[in-house]
Amino acid sequence: MKTIIEPFKIKTVEAIYFTTKEERRSILEKAFYNPFRIHAKDVLIDLLTDSGTSAMSSNQWAGIMQGDESYAGSPSFFRFEESVRSITGMPLIIPTHQGRAAEKIIFTILGGKGKYFLSNTLFDTTRANIEFSGAEGVDLICEEGKHPSIPAPFKGNMDIEALQQTITKIGAENIPMVIITITNNSGGGQPVSMQNIKDVRNVCTEYQIPFFIDACRFAENAYFIKLREEGYSNKSILEIANEMFSYADGCTMSAKKDAFANIGGFLAMRDLDLAVQCRNLLIVTEGFTTYGGLAGRDLEAIAIGLQEIMDEHYLQYRIRSIEYLTNKLIEAGVPVMQPAGGHAVYIDAKDFLPHIPVDQYPGQALVGALYEHGGVRGVEIGSLMFGKYDAEGKLIPAQLELVRLAIPRRVYTQSHIDYVAEVIIEVFEKRDAIKGLAIIEETPLLRHFTAKLKTA
Ligand code: F0G
Repeated sequence: MKTIIEPFKIKTVEAIYFTTKEERRSILEKAFYNPFRIHAKDVLIDLLTDSGTSAMSSNQWAGIMQGDESYAGSPSFFRFEESVRSITGMPLIIPTHQGRAAEKIIFTILGGKGKYFLSNTLFDTTRANIEFSGAEGVDLICEEGKHPSIPAPFKGNMDIEALQQTITKIGAENIPMVIITITNNSGGGQPVSMQNIKDVRNVCTEYQIPFFIDACRFAENAYFIKLREEGYSNKSILEIANEMFSYADGCTMSAKKDAFANIGGFLAMRDLDLAVQCRNLLIVTEGFTTYGGLAGRDLEAIAIGLQEIMDEHYLQYRIRSIEYLTNKLIEAGVPVMQPAGGHAVYIDAKDFLPHIPVDQYPGQALVGALYEHGGVRGVEIGSLMFGKYDAEGKLIPAQLELVRLAIPRRVYTQSHIDYVAEVIIEVFEKRDAIKGLAIIEETPLLRHFTAKLKTA
C-alpha cells in the first residue's frame, strides 16, 4: 500500500516560533509548570488540544464571506440547521457558542442536587457543568477501557451491566440522562461501538431515561465503526452517523472538533418541551434561537465543516496520522494507550515515570518535560484534571495518569509528527531525571486550567 497522504494542498501558512531549551526552561518555571499558562508563541508544536484549532478549508472561508448577520432568521442559520439535521436526524436544533454552552443549558434545566448523570466517561467541562448544577456525574467505562496497554476495538464502550446496576441502586427517577461521549475523549479518544450505543438505548428505554450523545468527534467514531464493526464496512460515514444518532434522544456538540470550526456548538433533540426550556435559557445566556452566541459567518463555517469531515479520504488520513505517531512510540517502548485513538496520542505517565508517585502528578511532570525538551505542548489528563481530596485532604487520584497529545485537524504535516516522536523518545530515554510536582495554588473547579505548581 502507498503512503497515505494529507488529502489537501496548503494555501495559507502561519509561521512557527522557535525557542531554545534554556528559554523554555525559564518559560516553564514562570508558567508554574502549567501548559495553559504558556503563551502560544512560545510553543513550537501545539498539541494542547484539537479543539478550535483546525485549519478551515477554502470552502469554509468562502462560506464565511456569505455569512448573513441578521439577528433573527438568518439564511446562515437555516443552512446550519439543515446540515446538522442531515447528520443527526434531530428535529430541534439550537446553536450555542461552543460545546460547554450547550452543556450549561441542558444541565441547568435537568440537573440539581440529588440528580446523577451516567456516562461512559464525562469530559472535564461536562462533568464541571453537571457538578455546578449540584448534580453528580458517574463514569461507567467498560473493563477494557481501564487498561491503557491492552488493545481492544471499542475501549470507549459503556459497561452495560454497571449501567443497569447503577440505575437500580440510584433509582431511575434520580437520573435525568445517560450520556455517551463519542469518541471517549478522557478515556483515550477510544471509540464506542454501534452495538454499545444500541444497548445503552435499550436500557434507557427500559427505565425511561433520556439518552444523549456528546457528539464532538462523531465522524472519527463513525469511521472506527466502519473499520472495526461487522456489517459497516460498506456503509458511508453519513449512514453510520445517521444510525448512531437515531438511537439517541438528543446530543450536545462542540463544532470546534468534528466540524472544522474555530468556534461553535449546538444542542439537538427530539423533545419539544425540553427544547422550549433550552431556547428560553439560550435567549438569556447565549442569544436568539437562530444564532445562539455565534455570528452568521460561524454558522456557515460549521454547516460546511460538518459535511467536509465525513470525507473518507480525510478520515483515513486523520486516523492514520494518529496511528503513525502511536506506532512510532510503541516501537521505541514508550507506554501509550493502545490502540491509537481518534484525535490524540495518550501516553501512560504512570508507566513512563514510575518513580513519581501520583500525588506528585506524573502526567503534569511529563507535560513539562516535553515542553522543555522540544517545545511540544500537551495536556495532563490525570489526577491534576480529575483528582479530588478526601476528608483528610489526601488526594483521591484519577483512574489513569495520561498525557494527551491532541492533533489539530489539517494543521501539521508528517515531518511535524516525526519531530514530535523524536522529542518524546528522547525524553523517554532520559526519564529518570524528571522530577515530580507539587501544587501551590488551585481553584475548586477545573483546577488544571489555572493551578500553579513547583518541582517537589
Ligand atoms: N465534550 C467533549 C468530549 C470535549 O472533548 C469537549 C471539549 C467538550 C465537550 C466541550 O466543548 O470546548 O466547545 O466547550 N474538549 C476540548 C479538548 C476542550 O481539548 O478536548 P467546548
